[in-house]
Amino acid sequence: MKMTLMGVSVLVSLSISAVTNAADLDAAKRGEKLYMQHQCYSCHGTNGQGGERNAGPQIFPNPTPFVAFELQMRTPRNLMPRYAVQNINEAQLKDLYAFVENMQVSPAAAKIPLLSNAMR
Ligand code: HEC
Repeated sequence: MKMTLMGVSVLVSLSISAVTNAADLDAAKRGEKLYMQHQCYSCHGTNGQGGERNAGPQIFPNPTPFVAFELQMRTPRNLMPRYAVQNINEAQLKDLYAFVENMQVSPAAAKIPLLSNAMR
């Protein structure tokens, strides 16, 4: 139990360490809401890992620079729906990017004690 709690606190501190300050953290939190509301997760996955059956490419790790992100949102290259300023304004776009930039790679199932036990 103690180990599990320690594991959780290590994970929590790791997930926060990527964000440099409180303002960024707030922006990332607002961005996460937008990511869910606008259903980006349905094509790109909740951790940016990419969707099943090529729904959307992986967008984290190695997110595109902000300019490319903005361009893709406003004028998508191909199949992605367009998000106009009326749907996601400039400030929200920055929040969304702050979230994407600070996403976390999910650990492999075998590295999660509860899951690795279940797989035995
Ligand atoms: C219906 C599925 C779908 C939804 C919803 C969607 N995307 Fe996409 N996204 C794609 C596809 C497909 C591409 C590949 C380029 C294209 O088709 O325009 C893409 C490309 C991208 C890229 C560029 C990746 C790269 O490597 O160039 C980013 C960043 C991105 N999406 C972010 C988002 C965000 C943020 C949202 C939510 C506001 C979102 N997407 C919603 C399907 C989707």
